[in-house]
Amino acid sequence: MSDEPLVLGIETSCDETGVGIVRGHTLLADAVASSVDEHARFGGVVPEVASRAHLEAMVPTIERACETAGIAMYDVDAVAVTSGPGLAGALLVGVAAAKALAIGLGKPVYGVNHLAAHVAVDQLEHGPLPEPCVAMLVSGGHSSLLKVTDLTTGVQPMGTTIDDAAGEAFDKVARLLGLPFPGGPYIDRAAREGSVTIDFPRGLTSQRDLQRHRFDFSFSGLKTAVARWVEARERSGEPVPVAEVAASFQEAVCDVLTRKAVDAAAHEGIEDILVGGGVAANSRLRALVEERATARGIRVRVPRPALCTDNGAMVAALGSELVARGRQPSELGLPADSSMPVTTVVA
Ligand code: KG4
Ligand code: ZN
Repeated sequence: MSDEPLVLGIETSCDETGVGIVRGHTLLADAVASSVDEHARFGGVVPEVASRAHLEAMVPTIERACETAGIAMYDVDAVAVTSGPGLAGALLVGVAAAKALAIGLGKPVYGVNHLAAHVAVDQLEHGPLPEPCVAMLVSGGHSSLLKVTDLTTGVQPMGTTIDDAAGEAFDKVARLLGLPFPGGPYIDRAAREGSVTIDFPRGLTSQRDLQRHRFDFSFSGLKTAVARWVEARERSGEPVPVAEVAASFQEAVCDVLTRKAVDAAAHEGIEDILVGGGVAANSRLRALVEERATARGIRVRVPRPALCTDNGAMVAALGSELVARGRQPSELGLPADSSMPVTTVVA
């Protein structure tokens, strides 16, 4: 038996109840129960519905993860849980469960940062993280560029969205086009059938904006531009070319994201970019970041899609790294902190 620590990670910051189990960098189980279908008719995640769903899914998901990993709960060396950022009520369910487990098992608990966990998960697929690296995290709840010098202590924000998150823009534009929620995968698919024919705006890329917001993002102007374009088409009585709008919108998002990620790495003299979060599943984003980074001599790592979206394995991966590097666990009073700063890796 390996002497690497066995870590169970719990994620409940949004609409996925995730329980992952890792030993060192080896993924043993990644059980996820999603309440996404319950939110679909509202066109976005409803916090109270998410909290209730976490409560119902928590114990069965822990049991499923242990069964898949072939372990008993008392084999676990440490428990890790997302402490924040995220939806307050949703986080609370995971944090309470993690504390109960830690007390019951007599093991340490690590309350970790959700964003750092999105970075850590890549180690399960591609091995030790290159440090320093630039991480671009793009999902329904966040869009950030981070400079990671030490995954367990040194995560610094370089830029973030000043309005909508990238995934939120995908979801809102999908809605405009009559596509289901969450819209990202549907836009991705529709875009493959169309070409980029409409020149939608690229937020925060003018010379003036770059002076103050070089590594920040803005997607709400783009969303409004798409809405106006679609409305004009509808008024004219002509059919809306869904595939072309999808392809052109997607290109605008991916153009800005990849341009800024590569610029951030080049600016810092960093040779590795890591992409994570649900939007990292986007096929155009993956291709374009690879193309642009390679042209500048920068390497790119993107975990497989199932590890990019919210899951428990990412939390376990970060917990395992904290144990491996001898970091102090959290106090039992650790909070669910909906606005946990990215610079705080462990609560
Ligand atoms: O990381 P995630 O599962 O949850 C959080 O929001 O934290 O990300 C979900 C987001 C949704 O906005 C969804 O539309 C987007 O990721 N997404 C995609 C794709 N797959 C998921 N966006 C663009 N292209 C995709 N293929
Ligand atoms: Zn996330």
